[in-house]
Amino acid sequence: MRVAIIGAGYVGLVTGVGLSKHGNEVTLVDIDEQRVKMINQAKPPFYEEGLEPLLQNSVGGNLRATSDIKEATIGADVIFLCVQTSCQSDGTIDLVHVEQATTDIGKAFKDREGHPLIVVKSTVVPGTTEKVVCPLLEVNSSNRPGRDFGITVNPEFLREGKAIEDFLHPDRIVIGELNKESGDVLSELYRDFDAPILRVDLKTAEMIKYASNVFLAAKISLINEIGNICKRLGIDVYRVAEGIGFDPRISPYFLNAGLGFGGSCLPKDIKAIVVVAKGLGYQASLLESVIRINEEQPLKLIELAEKRVGDLTARKTTVLGLSFKPGTDDVREAPSLKVITELLERGALVTVYDPIAMEKVRGIFKDKIDYATSAEEAVSEAELVFIVTEWDEFKNPNLYQGKKVFDGRRILSSDEAERLDYEGICW
Ligand code: UDX
Repeated sequence: MRVAIIGAGYVGLVTGVGLSKHGNEVTLVDIDEQRVKMINQAKPPFYEEGLEPLLQNSVGGNLRATSDIKEATIGADVIFLCVQTSCQSDGTIDLVHVEQATTDIGKAFKDREGHPLIVVKSTVVPGTTEKVVCPLLEVNSSNRPGRDFGITVNPEFLREGKAIEDFLHPDRIVIGELNKESGDVLSELYRDFDAPILRVDLKTAEMIKYASNVFLAAKISLINEIGNICKRLGIDVYRVAEGIGFDPRISPYFLNAGLGFGGSCLPKDIKAIVVVAKGLGYQASLLESVIRINEEQPLKLIELAEKRVGDLTARKTTVLGLSFKPGTDDVREAPSLKVITELLERGALVTVYDPIAMEKVRGIFKDKIDYATSAEEAVSEAELVFIVTEWDEFKNPNLYQGKKVFDGRRILSSDEAERLDYEGICW
């Protein structure tokens, strides 16, 4: 099929290379000329495992990028909307990019022949496709949804660092459809994928995406809360997680207690759905607690240090790991930012190190902290070491000899930890 993808960010580009691998003719559209140029030179504009070889295989063949939305959409059978959504300070979803891109798509296919399918892949709160996307497309294209063009919602479940694998081998494909014809087209596009396809209405598909992320977030806050109780009882929460994970109703995944969740999706999505609920007159108190536990969790690491050594003023501290998880340089909503901020507020001297996320953090904290070039250098002068992201290179007990170590990610085994001056955040 001929596919146009509006928004060549993380989701759009991964979707593009994945669909081109499956033999489709893909045109990516982005307003960022530099990004368009890089893609056309087969250079990934950001790091994602496995992206570069796939891009090299398809650029010059069945994948290209452009900033001309009209040219990209005019002959397309399927048009994916993959622009980012962010959230305002109160958690409300910010649809500015979705609205702009939808307007542009509408204008672009105003005069075209045929019956394109529009696929909303951007994460939008339930009801958005029906109440915002469809009317904007209708007004700007003078075409009727369902009659002149199809509409579906197709949420993504891509983990950063594993996005290509997740796209090519999904555990499920969710299709929210305005009508059967719309869903049939998208089903056909995914026909070679070995995954169950769930077909529902538009807002159910939108909710599935939120419920997925909210469930994962809740699982993490739940095990962190159990961990906080375990810590007070002298119990290792990781053994407890092992014990409950055998139950298939619980499963062993997403039970790693520690500093909590960050990233561009989980924190934003859970806040957005709480705001939606509030607007409907419902207080989502469980979800509010999930957020609160997550926000307070990084402070626990600092409290442990204060309990151990007292006042942190002028103490030499090191924060190991800055990205919100290993395998990415993304520091959005990363627990490291809270740990550093709290240490600075207490007057501590802070050195940081991360194998790939240093520049992102330099942009935030500038000269308020020191930047080391290796884990060894970061640790060498420090009295207190805070382990914040579980990069493999930090899993070396020799690194920590003679230091007071506060582990937020359980990177050392109990045996290794026993030989060190070591405290786990909730074990
Ligand atoms: C997530 C979802 O997994 C994905 O399906 C969705 O489409 C986008 O959001 P991602 O943000 O890449 O993906 O991160 P993920 O791997 O899910 O981890 C999220 C956060 O939870 C990380 O900060 C991680 O450190 C933390 N986490 C994860 C835990 O604290 N404990 C765990 O057991 C698992």
